[in-house]
Amino acid sequence: MTNAADNSTVTAPPAQAAAPKKSGGAFNRETVLEVQHYTDRLFRFRTTRDPAFRFVNGQFAMIGIEVEGKPLLRAYSMASANYEDDLEFFSIKVPDGPLTSRLQHLKVGDTVLVGRKPTGTLVQPNLLPGKRLYMFSTGTGIAPFSSVIKDPEVYDLYDHLILVHGCRQVAELQYGLDIVKAAKENEFFGEIVREKLIHYPTVTREAYVHQGRATELIESGKLFEDIGQPPLNPAEDRVMLCGSPGLLRDLVKLLQDRGFREGSGGDPATYVIEKAFVEQ
Ligand code: A2P
Repeated sequence: MTNAADNSTVTAPPAQAAAPKKSGGAFNRETVLEVQHYTDRLFRFRTTRDPAFRFVNGQFAMIGIEVEGKPLLRAYSMASANYEDDLEFFSIKVPDGPLTSRLQHLKVGDTVLVGRKPTGTLVQPNLLPGKRLYMFSTGTGIAPFSSVIKDPEVYDLYDHLILVHGCRQVAELQYGLDIVKAAKENEFFGEIVREKLIHYPTVTREAYVHQGRATELIESGKLFEDIGQPPLNPAEDRVMLCGSPGLLRDLVKLLQDRGFREGSGGDPATYVIEKAFVEQ
């Protein structure tokens, strides 16, 4: 069972937040600064950031730990924005998952490996100009959008940003609620966030203000009624997807049926999808 009351935050004392240890090769060795557990399936952590580690908001990197002298890595989206001093990641915990069964025991001061070559498709150059940016996510798939909703330049490109986050249970929505609240309260760009960002958290296995899968909410029109926007159309809407394989499969079909086309670096179009997603 998930329980919001299980939340616990541990923050590094200033002395430990000092310069991270570095190594040569493909990875930076970063130090864990903070760990927060949301439920028995979800947690987030912050680490130091090598100043030379540059990325575009929405990208991911290979993240992991050393096990018996060898790196054990998975793709993790940066949940922090590219101008922040630290890195943040939002992770699932799978009891028998090779990496996350270990990663969930991270403590302040531990070392995390961060691959030096961030990459990913959830970036603005892959999309044509549009009026609204939809970000559909399930579970930890919200992580890259945590970085995108903190990017003032993205707000300049659209009239509205719409962040849809689907989870099984209400407690699993907490991370999304926290990042949206923080973005709205940001002293530099909070005003534009309050004006343009629409957050739509929805659950499928408990009672909540919004219920149902994103796909059902699109097909029934309920999503658009609730947010006061017209139904999805490729002339005006741009869509980013990150989440469970089922969501990606069904939503891609739904988008293609409506005339949306997948964009890439050399060929920007109307939707993009992130397939690199940690499930173990
Ligand atoms: P559901 O509870 O109906 O399966 P998970 O925790 O399994 O990754 O699921 C996260 C959320 O994604 C759940 O709310 C789940 O709904 C939803 N989901 C699973 N498959 C799909 C799909 N094919 N399309 C849309 N949402 C989905």
